Amino acid sequence: MVFSPKVNDKLKIGPETYTITEHPAAKGMPYGQAGRRATVYQLSTTRNEFRALKVFNAIYRTDDTRVQAEKLSKYAMLPGMIACKRIVLSPIQYPDLRNRLKSLQYAVIMPWVEGTTWQELIMSKEVLDKNQCLALADGFLQTMVNMEDKGIAHCDLSGPNLIVDLVGLRSLNGSKSRFQPSLIDLEELYAPDFVQPKKLPAGSAGYAHKTVKNGIWTVDADRFAGAILLSNILTWHYKPMLEESFGEQFFDPDEIHQSCKRQELMSHALKSQYGEDLQELFEHAWNSETLDECPPFSDWARALDIDIEEISDVPTAHKQTVEIPETPLPPSTTQKPPIAQPLGGPVTGWVSLMPQQGIDSIPAPQPAKPKPRPEQENFWEWDTPQFDPNKPKSYSIDYSPSSSTIGQQGPSTAIPNPTPPPYPPPQPPRNRGQNIGYKYPPPINQQKSNTSPTRPANTQQQKQGMTDGQVAALVFLIIVVLIIIGVIIANSL
Ligand SMILES: Nc1ncnc2c1ncn2[C@@H]1O[C@H](COP(=O)(O)OP(=O)(O)O)[C@@H](O)[C@H]1O
Ligand SMILES: [Mg+2]
Repeated sequence: MVFSPKVNDKLKIGPETYTITEHPAAKGMPYGQAGRRATVYQLSTTRNEFRALKVFNAIYRTDDTRVQAEKLSKYAMLPGMIACKRIVLSPIQYPDLRNRLKSLQYAVIMPWVEGTTWQELIMSKEVLDKNQCLALADGFLQTMVNMEDKGIAHCDLSGPNLIVDLVGLRSLNGSKSRFQPSLIDLEELYAPDFVQPKKLPAGSAGYAHKTVKNGIWTVDADRFAGAILLSNILTWHYKPMLEESFGEQFFDPDEIHQSCKRQELMSHALKSQYGEDLQELFEHAWNSETLDECPPFSDWARALDIDIEEISDVPTAHKQTVEIPETPLPPSTTQKPPIAQPLGGPVTGWVSLMPQQGIDSIPAPQPAKPKPRPEQENFWEWDTPQFDPNKPKSYSIDYSPSSSTIGQQGPSTAIPNPTPPPYPPPQPPRNRGQNIGYKYPPPINQQKSNTSPTRPANTQQQKQGMTDGQVAALVFLIIVVLIIIGVIIANSL
């Protein structure tokens, strides 16, 4: 079954029930955003916190996502890396996905990062002042220098993969400070103990160094793209930069490494606003032959006189052993506004997925240590599936409007005709009037319970008849009784 969600559809995954939210700018449409490899939907939890559900296009649905997510979680402690916390819907843990909803295989649930992508900010020419630009550059460098220290790299640093909470940034009110943006799209992160992706990232147009056309997955992969992004952030308050911006990003992809008007403008803006050191760092990266030649992020921080708060409780990646971070996953600091739900429905779908095995491979919540990082949400504590082997297997997948009353929210009402989506819909429209509800324990689990050597004796057999031992005892008893009767008869004759 294709995953083609509607607003207010429910997904029951492990202990949590998620609701598909409505797009803030398109009434009746789910809040989704299509990227190059996936579509990301916003979900709301029962506590009205938001999560992101990343549903991959078919060729990207591989077990690598699950393996990598386990390793990624330790980097969620770094500033701006909250999206490293993830639950992966692997068909091993969620066998339902083998039979139906295949498009949800290896989908990722992670914290929703509030804000606007840097790409959207450029396109809509959002105005920032110099203090806001500096605060954002400070936050960005907190992420990048810490990543550099740990020997890891994003590998596709670009405008659409950086999220900035514009409301929060603007509330700084001109005071000089630090503001933390967040990186997303972390599936291709480089770390020495990670498995190299089968298809290497080749950078994004307008950010990619000339050497990365055939793919890049190295520790210095971010240096060039980071120099462009950081220079762009630092100079965005300078009006000519806004006016001369190419489109989705500041540079026309064909201009990269070339002497051109935009390169001169950026160089001039850096020099006039921040001094020659900054201009030199940019020029150095722009004219570099290799990524290794580009300045490291620590040089940028030094030139800007930015103190980097080193996060030391994250293990450096060159160690082979995967250490588990001790830092707590603090409670959510911001209470999200409740999602407006029409009274009595509509409930257009109900998906229930229960984790079945291999649950050990999902990172468990770690013991608390009093060092809260305000931008992190209480993700694991609530969302991580808890598998109770003593609980009876109860599944119900009902993803059709006709059986929506199975849900808890009353009768289904018709959803108004949606306006065209603001992003390409991931799948062709499906006839949702068709009844495609399911009720079962799926055959795959029945087979498992029959074949598993560790499970107790077949309970079905116990309920319906006698065991082999009991049958043998009964036969033995009958024989003994017959012999006794025979002896009595023989004696009486
Ligand atoms: N955790 C998240 N929180 C909020 N929005 C997100 C999140 N992850 C992705 N997005 C949104 O979805 C878009 C596509 O996601 P991304 O992970 O970049 O997919 P792709 O791998 O296809 O590029 C992003 O540009 C962003 O707008
Ligand atoms: Mg992306």
